[in-house]
Amino acid sequence: MTILVTGGAGFIGANFIYYELKAHPEDRIVCIDKLTYAGNLETLQEALKHPSFRFEKIDICDRKAVFALFEEERPDVVVNFAAESHVDRSIEDPGIFLTTNILGTQVLMDASRAYPVKRYHQVSTDEVYGDLPLDRPDLFFTEETPIKTSSPYSSSKAGADLLVNAYHRTFGLPTTISRCSNNYGPYQFPEKLIPLMISNARADKPLPVYGEGLNVRDWLYVEDHCRAIDLILRKGKVGEVYNIGGHNEMKNIDIVRIICAALHKPESLITHVTDRKGHDMRYAIDPTKIHEELGWLPETKFKDGIQKTIVWYLEHKDWWERIVSGEYRNYFEKMYGERLQSARN
Ligand code: NAD
Ligand code: TYD
Repeated sequence: MTILVTGGAGFIGANFIYYELKAHPEDRIVCIDKLTYAGNLETLQEALKHPSFRFEKIDICDRKAVFALFEEERPDVVVNFAAESHVDRSIEDPGIFLTTNILGTQVLMDASRAYPVKRYHQVSTDEVYGDLPLDRPDLFFTEETPIKTSSPYSSSKAGADLLVNAYHRTFGLPTTISRCSNNYGPYQFPEKLIPLMISNARADKPLPVYGEGLNVRDWLYVEDHCRAIDLILRKGKVGEVYNIGGHNEMKNIDIVRIICAALHKPESLITHVTDRKGHDMRYAIDPTKIHEELGWLPETKFKDGIQKTIVWYLEHKDWWERIVSGEYRNYFEKMYGERLQSARN
């Protein structure tokens, strides 16, 4: 079958493409990506050598280009990873988040109706459930938890999810949605917590921890997420939502300390900076449904995954240095210049 992967030049999409090429070499993969600041074609270098892989630089909001590609490729399955994905950027400039994450999803689903697909899969996030209090470790996000978002990013993802459910109910589009917790692993853009801390620590730069660093995230190795999506595509029930997470809750400050220790860097690099506006306290997934219905369980333990990830970043310095030196550097100055300045004063 032909799988159309959107946003495949980004972190999770690229890992998914490599996962599929290996696990299902009989399938053809077509990737479209706008190649925003977060999309890097270099990441897909190995995939581009593969005879059953095709890449096209297309914006998912470009209706004409998307329809032309569907006309030509007639995909059996669509997996939509394409999104603006960084909470801090969404606080600075929400507009592009609404455009790409909601309207782009609409374009893809319209094309999936015009050229009927067997499955339209929306890659969503646990952030649509809002956050949980730190003093209630007994609470988890289930698929029934009400949507209650905090940031423009999570609101745009929630908007897309509602639209996906509407296209399923109103037009009978065969949809599924997955809502995963925080991912880490190779090819993550160094604006997100783990790769940012690795790259800064490596260069003896300050490690900017928002507030006290007590916020909790539920970390999952990216390959486990890819395997879960693959299972949902092949065995998941149409119309359903599946939460994905591995019960691996960690405080931000503990993650940063682990990275310092692994790189033999002093914790004095840790710099507490002004907190993120509206900062969600805790995310925690209850993965019972995907475990019981599809037999999914995470395979990579955090202590192994973080080690593999650190080694990957150390061995792929060229990959992230090129990113950090470009447009990202201006962004870094804008986001942290003032925060670091006020922390020093
Ligand atoms: P990313 O920012 O690394 O990659 C996003 C990709 O989408 C980039 O390649 C970018 O060029 C592309 N893109 C952006 N706008 C586009 C457009 N208009 N048209 C075509 N391509 C466009 O993000 P990621 O971390 O890989 O996340 C992928 C998906 O997974 C997102 O939908 C995100 O909401 C979701 N998700 C991420 C996490 C996480 O921890 N990173 C967790 C749960 C869910
Ligand atoms: P991030 O990787 O941006 O993912 P998300 O906000 O989608 O969970 O951030 C993970 C956590 O790390 C979040 O609580 C914010 C915090 N954080 C910092 O403390 N410092 C930073 O420089 C960044 C990027 C994040």
